Parts: sequence; structure tokens; C-alpha cells
Amino acid sequence: MDSKYIQKTLSAITEQITKNAAVQKVLDNKFVKEHKYAAAAATVGLGVVAATTIVKAVNCEGKRYNYDAIPNLSFDDESIYDVATIGAGPSGSVLGYYLAREGRKVALLEKKVFPRDKYCGDAVATMAQDILREMGVMKELVDEDLGHFAQNGGFVSPNGNSFIGNSAKELKRDAKYNRGAVIAVKRIVLDEKVAKAAKRMGADLKENTTVENATFDRSTGVWTINCVDSEDNTKKIVYRARVLVCADGSPSNAARQLGYVHTEPNGICSRAYVKNNTTFRYDGVVFYPPSLLPGYCAIIREARDELNYLAYIIPGGKVTNDDLSKYHHQYMTEDPFISAALGPNPDIERMKAAPLRLGGIKKSYDDHLLIVGDAAGFIDPLTGEGIQYAMEGSRLASLALIQAFNERDLSHQSLKRYQDFWMAKFGHEFSMSMTMSLFLYRFPIVLDAAASLIEKRGSRFLAEWAAVMTGVKPKTWFLRPDVGPLIVLEIFGECFRRVFQGKKQIKKLD
Ligand SMILES: Cc1cc2nc3c(=O)[nH]c(=O)nc-3n(C[C@H](O)[C@H](O)[C@H](O)COP(=O)(O)OP(=O)(O)OC[C@H]3O[C@@H](n4cnc5c(N)ncnc54)[C@H](O)[C@@H]3O)c2cc1C
Ligand SMILES: *[C@@H]1O[C@H](CO)[C@@H](O)[C@H](O)[C@H]1NC(C)=O
Ligand SMILES: *[C@@H]1O[C@H](CO)[C@@H](O)[C@H](O)[C@H]1NC(C)=O
Ligand SMILES: *[C@@H]1O[C@H](CO)[C@@H](O)[C@H](O)[C@H]1NC(C)=O
Ligand SMILES: *[C@@H]1O[C@H](CO)[C@@H](O)[C@H](O)[C@H]1NC(C)=O
Ligand SMILES: *[C@@H]1O[C@H](CO)[C@@H](O)[C@H](O)[C@H]1NC(C)=O
Repeated sequence: MDSKYIQKTLSAITEQITKNAAVQKVLDNKFVKEHKYAAAAATVGLGVVAATTIVKAVNCEGKRYNYDAIPNLSFDDESIYDVATIGAGPSGSVLGYYLAREGRKVALLEKKVFPRDKYCGDAVATMAQDILREMGVMKELVDEDLGHFAQNGGFVSPNGNSFIGNSAKELKRDAKYNRGAVIAVKRIVLDEKVAKAAKRMGADLKENTTVENATFDRSTGVWTINCVDSEDNTKKIVYRARVLVCADGSPSNAARQLGYVHTEPNGICSRAYVKNNTTFRYDGVVFYPPSLLPGYCAIIREARDELNYLAYIIPGGKVTNDDLSKYHHQYMTEDPFISAALGPNPDIERMKAAPLRLGGIKKSYDDHLLIVGDAAGFIDPLTGEGIQYAMEGSRLASLALIQAFNERDLSHQSLKRYQDFWMAKFGHEFSMSMTMSLFLYRFPIVLDAAASLIEKRGSRFLAEWAAVMTGVKPKTWFLRPDVGPLIVLEIFGECFRRVFQGKKQIKKLD
């Protein structure tokens, strides 16, 4: 039983409810429209229960390792690296840091030269902050005032219910430890600091180095990695390593070339930095324009009051990746909330865009090989967040590798531990997120209900919602007796308001 099975089961439930002719008749009847919402609510409950049960079953599966016959001749050869990563983004560099700390010989092969930009929302969530703190990067960011901790934020639901909360009180307490739900740090700043921290720890950072291809020799257990100088592709450089790690981001070119990934990235996201010459006062607001579901837009406040406007296209809805530019620009002037936030004539950067690979790949390891970060699809399908999964996934990869080196067994049986680690830590959550994001697409009223519930319950509740959305708390939070039933009740309330109060007045964020 795997995550695919969970998804299939849950999609089947959804299909049953929406496609079943009898149910359809009920849904189509405008006088009993509320049945749709009841069904939606029941389905959310059912889906979450089913998913948790299955996830538990999957987690209990026994784990056994079979130490087989990859020769270990090369362990005595000093001229080759233990590990070489293709890419020195957050995933490659964090792996390099932890391996170097354990005395392993690591090369980080990076085609660009730092500082280099990466199109991103720049929102760095808690799990990543913990790793950055360990690496000494968090202190640098805070001391040099290069990040902005989010204090007030919230979301606008598809029908325009909104709630903005302020967690300044909680934040003050956490600030002592340089901690918060989200800190925004420009990637041009963050990635250089992370790569340099890995280098300080002893990893060999090779910039200007584009990996072209790599071949594995089974008889020696060594990879030959063919690279060219990024500035001059006639200059060839060859590295050799016992383990190759694909950390080359969402296009996942290396893993595709090697035959482990077969698909194009399944989502895309735009970015545009904006000068804060508007009246927007918040640190982070998520907007769910109905036409973009299950994707969304966000405005995030960076250090020095710059803003970052983003539109995430997440698969499962009607929108395709080709629609990105159209929607990104359309919402800037036509969405009542986004246009108000950006102001009539914003000082905004030209739209940039980069692909997303969401939900995790099926197999992220083989003999002497790992795939990490975006290359392995470590982006949460509900939120589009990937930095913390890139970093945490690589920390787990380092644990698996250190154990494998200690046992002198780099076979796929040994490295499967990495897949087990990340599946347990966030892989199953990804399946849950995928299902929830499809739910929200089918039943956006759940978001409307959640927004009005949060409005009633206040900032503490919003903080918990944020914790779930940023992966600090599991999505089973929605099942808690003080959460799930209240959302369901709120859904009934929404229906009631729609039936008896007619069209809703749009209330702008103030
Ligand atoms: C527009 C957008 C907004 C996003 N917003 C957020 C957000 O707010 N919060 C969040 O947590 N996540 C966000 N994400 C996801 C996040 O950007 C990624 O999850 C994260 O960058 C993954 O890190 P990585 O190290 O795996 O890959 P990358 O950061 O892509 O790094 C890959 C590195 O590999 C190098 N490379 C590639 N090919 C080669 C080669 N052949 N040879 C050598 N080097 C190579 C590249 O130059 C690059 O440095 C967003 C993504 C997008 C596109
Ligand atoms: C690898 O080395 C270890 C430790 O020396 C040894 O026990 C193991 O049998 C070796 N494996 C192979 C395939 O030679
Ligand atoms: C990268 O290449 C450029 C052009 O050849 C060169 O100017 C630069 O110094 C190189 N940087 C590094 C870090 O190797
Ligand atoms: C691999 O890359 C090298 C450049 O480093 C190139 O010369 C060689 O032709 C490539 N091999 C294949 C099979 O693409
Ligand atoms: C910029 O953001 C701040 C909030 O940090 C806000 O008070 C201010 O009004 C905004 N606008 C301008 C033009 O500075
Ligand atoms: C913001 O700046 C841009 C470019 O400088 C300008 O055209 C626009 O009028 C400004 N908007 C506001 C609301 O001040």
C-alpha cells in the first residue's frame, strides 16, 4: 500500500460524490444546494479519516536491509569524493554541510556563481529555520537584518471571506530564539549563505561547473561525472565520486537523464518584487481567486519593506501552466483584493517564473545514488513550499549516507533508508496535501468556511492554521474535535447565508 493508493481511494470517494447520477441530481437542484456542502463536509471528514488510517498502516511496514554485492574496492582510494552533488542550492548545500561535518569528502558542483538569484516566494518555514540555525546562517541573517519575520497575515477565501491576524505577541516570545512561523529572505542572499556555510564546514564548492552527464561503473562502485566550465564549454572537468546526488532543482535533468524521473514539472509559479509604495500593511497574505484554484496568489513582505507578489499554478484544476502570465497580470488589476493590495500603479518587477515539481517522486534512491530537493519533487502540493523540505530531506539523506558509509554498504537496499526517512517525515503529508488541494478545488466553500471560522476564533487559531499550512503540525489537525466539526458547522452557516442573504458584499482588506 502506498501514497498512490491513498490518493486513488480518496479521489474515488470524491468521484462517487460528484459523479454519481443521483447525487448529481441533488447537487443540481437549486433548492437543496446545501446537500452539496453537507456532502463536501462529510467527504472531507471521510477522506481525512481514510488517509490517516492508511498512512498509519503504511508506516508500520517492516524494514529490512539486504547487504549485497556492490564492491567496496574504492573505499581506499583517496582521489575520489565520497559524495558529489549536482547543484548547490538549499538541498545540495545542506547535504554538503552535514556530510562534511561528519568528515566525509564532498563536492558541490554548481553551474552558477554565488550570489545567484532563484525565483521563489522567499518564505522560509520553521523546519528550514531550525537547520539554518544549526548551520549558523540564521544568526547571520538576523544580525545583518536580511530577513523579515512574518507577524501579521492571513488569507482571503474564494468568495472573499478574509481574516488577517496578528501574532506579534507569540512572535515577541519566539524572537528571543530567532524563531517564527515564516521568515522571508531573498534567495539571492539565502542560497549564498547556505552554500558558504557548507564550504566553511569543509565541502568543496565548485562554482562555474555545469554537470553534463555521469556514468556509474559497477565493477568499481565509482561515478564518473563529466562537467564543463559554465563560461567556456570546451573546458572539460571530470570528478569521481562513490555516491552521486541529484540536487539540480525542479527540471530534474540529471534524474531524468539517468531514468529515475520521467515527467515534466507539474506546476509553475511566478514572482515579481514590488516596491512598497502602496497601502498594504501586512507581512503575508494568501489570496484564493476562484479561477486559480487549487493554486493561489500571495504577497509576502521581505526585509526593508519590499513585497513579493506570486501566483502558484498547482495541478488538478482547470488552469494550465500556460495561463500563468495571463492570470498573474489579470489579478494585479482585476482581483478586488490583490489589486487593492498592490495599488493602482505598483512599482513592480517584470514577471519571472520557474517550475514546481510537487508531491515527491516514487523512488529517490538506487545503488550509490540519491535524488534530493526539488529534483525529487519535495514541494508541498497544498502550499507550494519547498525550501524546508529540500533542507530537511537533505539532512535525512545525510543520516542515511553516514550510516551507509559506516556500514560500507552503498547499495540501494541500504540507501532505501533515505526514502523511508523522508516518507515518514513529510512524504505521507504530501499525499494528504495533494488530496486536500483537490478537495479545495472541488469544494472551495471549505476555505470560505475556514476563513469565517478563523475570524471568529482569532489569532491563536490562525497561528495553528498557519502551523498546519507550513508543515509544523500534521494535517490531521483538521480532524480534531475542536476543529473539524467547527469547519463543518461553518460550512452549514455559509450555505445558510448564501440561501437567505443572497450575494455577498465584497469587503476589502483595510
Ligand atoms: C516562483 C516560486 C516560488 C516559490 N516559493 C516558495 C516559498 O515561498 N517558500 C518555499 O519554501 N519554497 C518556495 N518555492 C520552492 C523552492 O524554490 C524550492 O523548493 C527550492 O529552491 C528547492 O531547492 P533545491 O536546492 O532542491 O533546488 P534549487 O534551489 O533549484 O537549486 C538547484 C541548483 O542546481 C544547480 N544546477 C542545475 N543544473 C545543474 C547542472 N547541470 N550542473 C550543476 N548545477 C546545476 C542550479 O544552478 C541551482 O543552483 C518556490 C518555487 C518557485 C518556482
Ligand atoms: C565491504 O567491506 C566490508 C568491511 O570490510 C565487508 O564486510 C564486506 O563484505 C565488503 N563487501 C564486499 C561486497 O566486498
Ligand atoms: C566563473 O567564471 C567567470 C568567467 O570565466 C570568472 O570571471 C569567475 O571568476 C569564475 N568564478 C568562479 C567562482 O570560479
Ligand atoms: C558527457 O559530457 C561530456 C562533456 O563533459 C561530453 O564530452 C560527452 O560527449 C558526454 N557524453 C554523452 C554520452 O552525452
Ligand atoms: C510600507 O509598509 C509599512 C508597513 O511596514 C506601512 O506602514 C507603510 O504605510 C507602507 N507604505 C509606504 C509607502 O511606505
Ligand atoms: C509606485 O511607483 C510607481 C513607479 O515609481 C509609480 O508609477 C506609482 O504611481 C506609485 N504608486 C503609488 C500608489 O504611489
